[in-house]
Amino acid sequence: MADIRGFVFDAYGTLFDIHSVVEAGRAVTDDPMALSLLWRQKQLEYTWLRALMGRYEDFWRVTEAALRFALRKLDLRATEAQVRGLMNAYLSLACFPEVKGALQRLQGRPVAILSNGAPAMLQAAVASSGLSGLIQHVISVDAVKTYKPSPAVYALAPDALGVPAASLLFVSSNAWDVAGAKAFGYQVCWCNRAKAPAEELGVSADAVVARLDQIPT
Ligand code: 2OP
Repeated sequence: MADIRGFVFDAYGTLFDIHSVVEAGRAVTDDPMALSLLWRQKQLEYTWLRALMGRYEDFWRVTEAALRFALRKLDLRATEAQVRGLMNAYLSLACFPEVKGALQRLQGRPVAILSNGAPAMLQAAVASSGLSGLIQHVISVDAVKTYKPSPAVYALAPDALGVPAASLLFVSSNAWDVAGAKAFGYQVCWCNRAKAPAEELGVSADAVVARLDQIPT
């Protein structure tokens, strides 16, 4: 870890625990984890497909489309009110237990979020999780109307922070996101919360941790 002058965090799954979305799923299924896993996978798939097609819709719309697919695929019946309840869970996410202390330890150098999340989604999640005072920049891909791992997305943080990517540490729990940031030129730390195998994408993380309070500074 040479010359780290700022920190850039992924949001969902890294800072914010989307498990509360699983809890909301209990209203429509007795297997909320199955719904949550399919929903998340389809949400990401749709971001990659729309980016490649050049057919951008923001993350709120993509998240709702992925939910509707997952409900149909699992043959679940949900009222519109239940769909709204599931979507609103994204606006009141909790952060993982170690996140506040980890971000406090990093203060003094700029701390940013760089996320697929739509601006309003990110603002709501930052506020609901109590992280407002610890994050100086909240950057959404919406500024460039495409999605991670497009280089156009990773270029946003160096511009906002005024620090070159090589002097920024990008942190994500999503290994594909870590690969995209590394390919762009960041130093990267993979927070492997799920103990997943590394991806075969031709680049590897500079550091791997299990929790954000283990980030090398
Ligand atoms: C993000 O927050 C999708 O977790 C990814 O950008």
